Amino acid sequence: MEVPPVTPPAASPADGLLPPATVLERCPTGIEGLDSILEGGIPRGNMVLVAGSVGTGKTTLCLEFLVRGAERSERSLFLSVTEASQKLIQNLSTFEFFHRDLVENGSLVFVDLPKVYDRLGLGREEMTSEEIGILLRTIRDLVRSLGVQRLVLDSLTSVCYRIRREEQIRDFMLRLGQELKEVGCTSLLVSEIGPLPGRYSLHGVEEAIVDGVILLSNIHRMGDILRVLQIIKMRGTAHSQAQFVIQLTPIGILMAPHLKGGREATA
Ligand SMILES: Nc1ncnc2c1ncn2[C@@H]1O[C@H](COP(=O)(O)OP(=O)(O)OP(=O)(O)O)[C@@H](O)[C@H]1O
Ligand SMILES: [Mg+2]
Repeated sequence: MEVPPVTPPAASPADGLLPPATVLERCPTGIEGLDSILEGGIPRGNMVLVAGSVGTGKTTLCLEFLVRGAERSERSLFLSVTEASQKLIQNLSTFEFFHRDLVENGSLVFVDLPKVYDRLGLGREEMTSEEIGILLRTIRDLVRSLGVQRLVLDSLTSVCYRIRREEQIRDFMLRLGQELKEVGCTSLLVSEIGPLPGRYSLHGVEEAIVDGVILLSNIHRMGDILRVLQIIKMRGTAHSQAQFVIQLTPIGILMAPHLKGGREATA
């Protein structure tokens, strides 16, 4: 039987090239150095842990992320557990990048979670599954009704202290993450951790569930404290894992590569 010769397919202009990579939509943090190592920002809809011990700049970084979003007309919500909103706004006023009208015109919204707990009768030290459900629905309703595009929870650790059981924390975070992703809301969750090597959250499950981890640390060097930032993980992003020195300045957070030298200890 005669077999017809195989005709090679016509050459296409893309021959020899890989299919074009999918570019994820980014949510720019507005912190220049951070956006440049994150290929433009956090992938939109991602849930990211901002971990670090006391005074490392977690709240400041989260506030700048929200202010920069509000300036771009992205509705930004700060859920505060550890500090009262009024005090946060007062502290924010010391930064030049903050304008009070962002709060007055509703672009930047502060909600004190302890007040929400009181209103909903969630006073118990350890929340039941039903109460966790109520908290999740309250956050979901806030996000949906206000059309929130950027959310900060300061801190996730304080919420987890009241959820306590690991499987319930996992469930809370998975449901929160799913809800936020569905509406395209990018979030930063603050994790207050001590200087534990290789650990970024209270229970450890939190860091496994989130899409990204930004670690802030204090490094003691020759009598001074250096604040440093490091991206531990960021799904969907080819990022640097180097340490960057950060400075909290009136015009916002400035970042520079960390040049090693001298004796150091991390806290
Ligand atoms: N206006 C400002 N300009 C520069 N630095 C500031 C300003 N306000 C605060 N800081 C610095 O930021 C530090 C606190 O930062 P921040 O509250 O963001 O840290 P944190 O990690 O959230 O702390 P905590 O663990 O207590 O919540 C202060 O100790 C101070 O050194
Ligand atoms: Mg703080």
